[in-house]
Amino acid sequence: MTQLKVGLLFGGRSGEHEVSIASAQAIARGITAPENQSKYSLTLFYIDKNGVWHPPTVSQEVLAQGVPLPETDIQPAQLWQFPPEAAEIEVWFPILHGPNGEDGTIQGLLTLMQVPCVGSGVLGSAVGMDKLAMKGVFGQAGLPQVKYMGVTRSQVWSNPCVFPKLCDEIEATLGYPCFVKPANLGSSVGISKVRTRSELEAALDSAASYDRRIIIEAGVTAREVECAVLGKEQPQASVVGEISFNSDFYDYETKYTAGRADLTIPAALPESVSQQIQEMAIQAFTTLDCAGLARVDFFYVESTGEVLINEVNTLPGFTATSMYPQLWEATGVPFPELVDQLIQLACSLE
Ligand SMILES: Nc1ncnc2c1ncn2[C@@H]1O[C@H](COP(=O)(O)OP(=O)(O)O)[C@@H](O)[C@H]1O
Ligand SMILES: [Mg+2]
Repeated sequence: MTQLKVGLLFGGRSGEHEVSIASAQAIARGITAPENQSKYSLTLFYIDKNGVWHPPTVSQEVLAQGVPLPETDIQPAQLWQFPPEAAEIEVWFPILHGPNGEDGTIQGLLTLMQVPCVGSGVLGSAVGMDKLAMKGVFGQAGLPQVKYMGVTRSQVWSNPCVFPKLCDEIEATLGYPCFVKPANLGSSVGISKVRTRSELEAALDSAASYDRRIIIEAGVTAREVECAVLGKEQPQASVVGEISFNSDFYDYETKYTAGRADLTIPAALPESVSQQIQEMAIQAFTTLDCAGLARVDFFYVESTGEVLINEVNTLPGFTATSMYPQLWEATGVPFPELVDQLIQLACSLE
């Protein structure tokens, strides 16, 4: 049997660069696991924090060390250069979280190369990344979610007469507490939970420094539960998992400080609620035109029994201890088989 040449792309120009390296370490182990050895040959491509692609030799070293290359001054021409080994790749596995990787940009580049790619295409990736576009589509599909408003950076940084009116409108529409978020980031970067007018003003200013598009959401008191989806035309949902933590919300520090958050798999939920979450996860996946994989995150308001969709992550964290692979493990799909299925899905023509 000839081995399929898989190109694993990791690193990337986002705040989740380090997480991407950790995800790639786990995926590389999965692709080279004994059960996959005869099927795939693995080639590594590391994209540094400047956006420059590195050849397999350098990439191998970064993966082995688990440490990013330092940022340097680069020439624009370097961004147009790809290692020659890239031309031999038969299927790409991009594991780039956040902007410039999870948002359709890499997916567009790989589409132009006419080589199949694990995960969603341009549309699902782009809509899944932008919280305003995503919630617009969820609303159209009738998926229940929190009340929200969209504003732009230019509205926030407008003349001083307009800004107070904008804040009045947010207060009247959403009240406190509310969450202010850049529309296109991840890992809770730039997100604030606000309870007062002055916090709202500061949060809008901060979010505007990250993104042109800003979303403000009514805050809910809820349990945070997540479901993994795998497939293409007939996507399947995993068991549901829960994240619990002691901080005010699931912010950056809580996400990435060991021991701050606990995963419970499967979540202790009434069967009907788990089932509803699984159905909504598949509906969200289909509605956004996702493919391959996505982790769909929800708020479960225990007091009312309501399930609200929060977001879809089209390239979720994929380390050995991440929620996505753990949910599949608990559903009966071990890590090497999960990676195998994702590559097979990318290659299938349906
Ligand atoms: N509307 C909301 N109500 C309550 N908590 C929220 C709300 N929006 C966000 N949060 C909290 O902030 C965290 C990060 O928000 P999220 O929209 O998931 O951003 P990211 O894409 O960065 O993960 C959530 O996991 C949750 O803890
Ligand atoms: Mg989230």
